[in-house]
Amino acid sequence: MKVKETKQLLLENLEAAPRAYGSIILNKEITTRLLEECLNEKNTEALKRKIYGIKSAIHSYKNDKKGFLNIDSNGDTVSLRRDVFISELDQILKTKTIERAKYYLTRLKTGIGNIKTSKINDINLHRWKEYDEIITDSLWVMGKRDTSGAHIGWYWGNFIPQIPHQMMLRYSKKGDWVLDAFVGSGTTLIECKRLGRNGIGIELNPEVAQEAKKLIEKENNKDKVTTEVITEDSRTTDIKKILDTHGKEKVQLLIMHPPYHDIIRFSKDGRDLSNAGNTEKFLTMFGDVVDNATPYLEKGRYFALVIGDKYYKGEWIPLGFYCMNEVLKRGYLLKSIIVKNFEETRGKRNQKALWRYRALVGGFYIFKHEYIMLFKR
Ligand SMILES: C[S@@+](CC[C@H](N)C(=O)[O-])C[C@H]1O[C@@H](n2cnc3c(N)ncnc32)[C@H](O)[C@@H]1O
Repeated sequence: MKVKETKQLLLENLEAAPRAYGSIILNKEITTRLLEECLNEKNTEALKRKIYGIKSAIHSYKNDKKGFLNIDSNGDTVSLRRDVFISELDQILKTKTIERAKYYLTRLKTGIGNIKTSKINDINLHRWKEYDEIITDSLWVMGKRDTSGAHIGWYWGNFIPQIPHQMMLRYSKKGDWVLDAFVGSGTTLIECKRLGRNGIGIELNPEVAQEAKKLIEKENNKDKVTTEVITEDSRTTDIKKILDTHGKEKVQLLIMHPPYHDIIRFSKDGRDLSNAGNTEKFLTMFGDVVDNATPYLEKGRYFALVIGDKYYKGEWIPLGFYCMNEVLKRGYLLKSIIVKNFEETRGKRNQKALWRYRALVGGFYIFKHEYIMLFKR
């Protein structure tokens, strides 16, 4: 396809896309040169005329006299959110002084020319405004679960894919290794394939692990990552041996979504945390899993624990905070406690009125939240 045709097609697609999600692909070299020319302008009017020129070319490629939309194969390209790019240009147009205009221009040029990421993720901090998908608030009120692709949500007691999705975007880079010690139906590993992370999942229940493997297999593997489900007890799994087989020593993100003690009994197996005889025994078992996994989490990297509380014999048992203490005892740093809304389990959904009555009689509140606790090693 000729360059002009490609450009035409690209812009047609952009026009068709909802504004907030459209992206624009620029020729990096020409765009940088163009912004430099603007920076060399001595008076505000001339500078703004140039910015208008860029804006009008974005709206209609025919106005692209400089060729910054010319994405030929020889040059580097940069993909920007169209709405963010336009709003940056508008910000320059609204300035009252040339100094201010040049300040915004320099920032835009840096954002296009450089990539500034931290050690723990791929977020380009020069273009942080483009990441509104990433949540930074501690209260998560989530709508529907993501049921696209292999995420079919069949497993009672799974978590919504948005949880590992958010964790991986913030706390891992492409190509990193993620370990989920209670992988269940494989949600984390499906998300690993989507986001280009390698994943190891441990699951005690062989039937569940088998189903997880099938589902994970179904997800497209565009980044050719490795995913592996180990059917073992995560308190004793030889994690070193597993990592050795992949030529790795450490993982970069640890995720745990253990049973919320016995709220759901996942099996009859005595090694299953949901069969622990009481809260103390549950916490001991949970602590054993943390002890087993911690040496393999790279220093400075994150551990995300997803856990809810339980109610037993008229008493609220703060499992979440008890588990948090177990982790803190092991020298981790607490970075955040996220409170996430929680839809009723299938059983409770059918008995909504009954639960409301029970709550009124019993003087308690019905669980509507769970926690995502974030620790740094
Ligand atoms: C809350 S579920 C995890 C669900 C998972 N996040 C998902 O999206 O499907 C907890 C899982 O831990 C597993 N489990 C319980 N005890 C375990 C142990 N000792 N070792 C490994 N897995 C265990 C259970 O079989 C169950 O599948």
